[in-house]
Amino acid sequence: MTTGYGHLFSPFPLGQLEARNRVVLAPMTVAYADLNGHVSDAEIEHYGRRAQGGTGLVVTEHFTVNLVGRQLPHQTVVDDRSQLPGLARLAREVHRHGALIVAQIGHAGRYAGPWDSYDREPRLAPSAVPFRLAGERVVTPQEITSAEIAHTITAFGNAAHILAEAGFDGVQIHASQGFLPSQFLSPRMNRRADAYGGDYLGRVKFLLEAVAEIRRRTDPGFLLGVQLLGDEVTDGGWSLAEAVRLAGDLEASGVDFLLPSVTTFETVSGLTSHGEYRRWGYQLGAAIAIRAAVSIPVIANGGITDPRLADDLIGHGLVDALGLARALLVDPDWPTKVAQGRLSEVRKCDCTPPTCLRTQLTGTICHSWPEAAQAAGFLGYASSEASESAPPADADITAAPASA
Ligand SMILES: Cc1cc2nc3c(=O)[nH]c(=O)nc-3n(C[C@H](O)[C@H](O)[C@H](O)COP(=O)(O)O)c2cc1C
Repeated sequence: MTTGYGHLFSPFPLGQLEARNRVVLAPMTVAYADLNGHVSDAEIEHYGRRAQGGTGLVVTEHFTVNLVGRQLPHQTVVDDRSQLPGLARLAREVHRHGALIVAQIGHAGRYAGPWDSYDREPRLAPSAVPFRLAGERVVTPQEITSAEIAHTITAFGNAAHILAEAGFDGVQIHASQGFLPSQFLSPRMNRRADAYGGDYLGRVKFLLEAVAEIRRRTDPGFLLGVQLLGDEVTDGGWSLAEAVRLAGDLEASGVDFLLPSVTTFETVSGLTSHGEYRRWGYQLGAAIAIRAAVSIPVIANGGITDPRLADDLIGHGLVDALGLARALLVDPDWPTKVAQGRLSEVRKCDCTPPTCLRTQLTGTICHSWPEAAQAAGFLGYASSEASESAPPADADITAAPASA
């Protein structure tokens, strides 16, 4: 039964596929993979549970295309066929609950971890531009060579190929938030004098080549999306005007959908200190401007949790779908409850700064989950060393009411 949100819960055409509705799990790193980067039971349960709650399209968190580009110790790695069985189980579990699944793939570039060894093993970036990594610590990445660029683009295609074989419906390139593809886009981070730097055409070359390589390595029906940096939100940075232009070039290159997000690690603090991260629609302007320039679907995300407003935005053709990250972490049943008009039962994300941002090193925990779940954490109860008091592996800890 659908109550009053006919646009939000209408089928969502994506490339040659169709999601059952327009509620999308926006990519959100929970970091439940094992230390080898293999998919864990907890990860399968996490994504399966979001599909079970009624989400139409699950976009996974940021999976890395190789070890050099890994940011977090528990990040899923897609660089080898040994990862196929876990990835296939993950895709099957999401499909079993009726959702499509797309993996966000990327490379952290100058943000690759572990950060404590940064001085001994410099990280790759378009240019050796010093920046503040954390607190007052300033580091300088190493300029990536043209051979390493070619190697990295091949790794994007290889990851997509593995994910297609594992049964995923598609991939979404992470070209935002300051990770490697967006480092190339940014005139602040990319000072190269070769073909991969300089003007607009030079700075978008890396991303367009990654798109072409993924298309070359996968069937035409395999979905290809881009998490697109909509605006770096700083003087001299990547601008909304360039993002709008790139959206058209991505569509012409065969990209099926876009999910715009604004700022990088360095510029996000400007927004968060003004409470923007909590503010309704803080990325919406970029999404609407980009949607006006293309015919492929654009997913709006960022502090949008009011289904009436989301339904209106879609109904007016301003965007095509609603991406929810924190709202679906705290309550995987958001789509079912909203579709049935049970708005008062929706659990809300209410901590600032969000606990989920501070717990990624060991596996994300949500402040609004029941205490037992927070204490155990997904990794705690999923690992073989889990204590006897930890919830069993099939326990649905994220679905229990906060007061339980
Ligand atoms: C804990 C956490 C992890 C995130 N991980 C990713 C990620 O892996 N990839 C990505 O593109 N965005 C990531 N994001 C950003 C979200 O996709 C989203 O843009 C942001 O949370 C705002 O949307 P929301 O208000 O629906 O939560 C993350 C956000 C949070 C809070």
